Amino acid sequence: MTEQHLNFVGGRDIGADFTPNLNPSDLSDVIGEYASGTAEDVSAAVDAARAAFPAWSRSGIAERHGILRRAADEILARKEDLGRLLAREEGKTLAEGIGEVARAGQIFDFFAGECLRLSGETVPSVRPGIRIDVTREPLGVIGLITPWNFPIAIPAWKLAPALAYGNTVVLKPADLVPGCVWELVQILRRAGAPDGVVNLVMGRGSVVGQAMLDHPGLDAISFTGSVETGRRVALSSAEKGRKYQLEMGGKNPLVVLDDADLDTAVSCALNGAFYSTGQRCTASSRLIVTDGIHDRFVAALREAMAGATVGHALDSATVIGPVASAPQLEQDIDYVRIGEAEGADLVFGGQRLNGETEGFFLSPALFTGCTSEMRIAREEIFGPLAAVLRARDYDEALAMANDTDFGLTAGICTTSLVHAEHFKRNAEAGMVMVNLPTAGVDFHVPFGGRKGSSFGPREQGRYAAEFFTTVKTAYVLP
Ligand code: UN1
Repeated sequence: MTEQHLNFVGGRDIGADFTPNLNPSDLSDVIGEYASGTAEDVSAAVDAARAAFPAWSRSGIAERHGILRRAADEILARKEDLGRLLAREEGKTLAEGIGEVARAGQIFDFFAGECLRLSGETVPSVRPGIRIDVTREPLGVIGLITPWNFPIAIPAWKLAPALAYGNTVVLKPADLVPGCVWELVQILRRAGAPDGVVNLVMGRGSVVGQAMLDHPGLDAISFTGSVETGRRVALSSAEKGRKYQLEMGGKNPLVVLDDADLDTAVSCALNGAFYSTGQRCTASSRLIVTDGIHDRFVAALREAMAGATVGHALDSATVIGPVASAPQLEQDIDYVRIGEAEGADLVFGGQRLNGETEGFFLSPALFTGCTSEMRIAREEIFGPLAAVLRARDYDEALAMANDTDFGLTAGICTTSLVHAEHFKRNAEAGMVMVNLPTAGVDFHVPFGGRKGSSFGPREQGRYAAEFFTTVKTAYVLP
């Protein structure tokens, strides 16, 4: 009998229907059963969060600091077992899973500190004798909707600032990976979060997510996921006059110039395109390579790919874990076919692999001879597939890098300071990486993109206050 994990609403564990959580490295491994919430559960969660808001929004900063700090301590102390759970439910390698859990702990630690650093501004009025105070206040009840590819880091980077700044939340993790968020909520309970402050409703997007979008009682929604669902969050929020923040897709370029250090370029490409099985919105899915280094780069990358073992996420030899789900695997394989039909050359991988266990294993795929018009160079695939585009020179490479509907991250490998600086200024992306992979970001600085990738204020670091608070300007005649 597998363990049943309930939703958590207003301090009560609730749930009637359950969905099994399966390991994509081994479909016979059932991690547990997790409650499938309903629209009524969402309603109850919003009510509980509303009821808890007045007290929580006025709670002392020492109380909030203590809760977040204790949560950070438990997450960090348990990074090995939580990392294992993450690797089991999502398919990231154990090392990646432990790293992600550590990141979640550091995020809670950072925002614990932020509780103690809340401040405002006092400025003189243009009318003599009057004083103006500009302060930040909590926003209210916030809906948090998180994706499957970062089962603990993304929930952490929404939850921690939401709570630090005095909001209460209704949290819906991705249906595919509820395990890490369920643990996170138990950790916050033990850390002392009062009833109703954190409400967890697991379940399907079409039921629980939709009920959140339809509910008039949420003051804001912070969403990370697909472009398509992001649009629905935007439309429903516009209609309700609700604040919202969207983190959606990417089709991030990694430019490799003739003067790049070849080893650096290959390791950035291997990591950026294929680690975490390419399932990162920051993945380098377009490798834009100038003529003089193109063939050497492709040859060296193929060799590196051949050396990157694909396998069970918990196997210490594994470099690339399985694809996270059957529909995602199907989508990846479809794109391999699309690339071939579009006339690109599949020079490595793209094959379904059999492991010792039944799982969604796919060898990383590399296409060369791609053009910016091809679907494999325009659409977010969210799998271990990369398209190599050949450029004449830096100018053409930059133009190609910016020829996309997305704008999350952009990378360049070069030893030229002039090109690095120029790229940093002219890449149309929210984050730029020089001689570093486009994926894998720090936890204390702003995260977010431009164009179709993101909407609203940045996440993470001190910039998170932009979304999770509302500004008050008070005029006082003493
Ligand atoms: C990272 O690359 O370290 O869904 C983070 C995503 C992003 C997070 C990426 N929101 O892939």
